[in-house]
Amino acid sequence: MLSPASFWIGGEIDDEKQQTRAQRRREKQRRTQDAAEDAPPASASSLLATPGAFASRAKKTPYDADLGAASRAKKTPYDADLGAAVVSRKAFFKARRRTHGYARPAAFERALAAALGRLAPAYGANVAPKRPYDWASLPAALDVGDDGGGGLPEARRARKRQQLENVMWYVDRLARPGDVVVDFCSGCGHQSIPVAYLRRDVTFVLLDKKRWSLLVAERRCEELGLTNVRCVDALVADFGEPFDLGLALHACGGATEDVLESCVRARAAFVVAPCCVGGTANWRNGDYPRSDALRAVLAPALYAELAKAADTNASTRDLRGEPPKHLPRRRLCKSVVEADRLARCVERGYDGMLVLMDPPECTPKNDVIVGWPAGRDVRACFERRPAAPQPPWIPA
Ligand SMILES: C[S@@+](CC[C@H](N)C(=O)[O-])C[C@H]1O[C@@H](n2cnc3c(N)ncnc32)[C@H](O)[C@@H]1O
Repeated sequence: MLSPASFWIGGEIDDEKQQTRAQRRREKQRRTQDAAEDAPPASASSLLATPGAFASRAKKTPYDADLGAASRAKKTPYDADLGAAVVSRKAFFKARRRTHGYARPAAFERALAAALGRLAPAYGANVAPKRPYDWASLPAALDVGDDGGGGLPEARRARKRQQLENVMWYVDRLARPGDVVVDFCSGCGHQSIPVAYLRRDVTFVLLDKKRWSLLVAERRCEELGLTNVRCVDALVADFGEPFDLGLALHACGGATEDVLESCVRARAAFVVAPCCVGGTANWRNGDYPRSDALRAVLAPALYAELAKAADTNASTRDLRGEPPKHLPRRRLCKSVVEADRLARCVERGYDGMLVLMDPPECTPKNDVIVGWPAGRDVRACFERRPAAPQPPWIPA
């Protein structure tokens, strides 16, 4: 058990890191300014071609409707590479396909069919009980609605609690007495502090790159008198301590990859609910697909297209209140992305399953990947495993 005094946040290493980050930021600003000064005066076509005009271009191009989410136009690092020759719609898409591997619909469909032929996603039964925690009987500081713990507005509380319950229950079941659980990308610790409160026989490490979030988590632990929680201000990829179970609720995009890699390296079980899958292939081009199985049939650029299609924030309605276009196809792409992540772990000696949060409407990012080193006895977690009906977007 650790005393509250042993809470540890960053230190010298962190200050060094902050300095390097600040240097990199200044360098980037300088480069962007230089590029903007070198650029010709803005016109509709030069907005497309000027690397320095990223944000304004994202709002102003006539092509946004076709590109889909405006955020995608902002995010791709390839936009800056399109070059001054890009002046017409046709040339734009041609260049984009060339530099970005942007797929034609037929190619996209072929890629999806190839992926499904090789790695059909299948969901296991979510065996967590419907309402495993009675929040009203727990201290207020554990609740997301409490001012000290984030103070979520009433409208969001219920859905957030449902998301938390879907990962907390698995962590609670998989953690053995004496285990060390790392909550990667913990934020303020909504998903781990309640389990730490209920499981004093387990040590929790809350890791996040945001110092502010960890200070909130620390304050909550102090208020609750928890001595089995430690906070670490670091990037996931930099964490090298041994641990037994990794947890990550909505670790942004590629951070989920870092979490899974850390878990496999430490031979730790994991409960991971990923989010923002669309950017993943941009952040680590070449490192995708994750599994050998999918790599054999899908080039990184085509995988990137599936991942982008998978990045849907819409649960049931779009901004006009209508069912979002192609939602089942998009959802299927997300299932492929998550199945690919699990498959990589299975190829490295893991057992595991993909489950859907219950109820699925509690968040569009409702996939949970649960995994454990093959051979570990996890009967306590999965003693009751009814056959799972597959969600409607999975082809029969
Ligand atoms: C969407 S929030 C989720 C927070 C919390 N898990 C929850 O569900 O309430 C994502 C968190 O991940 C952190 N994060 C993202 N990438 C990270 C990385 N590579 N290393 C450490 N923390 C990271 C961010 O600082 C942020 O707090």
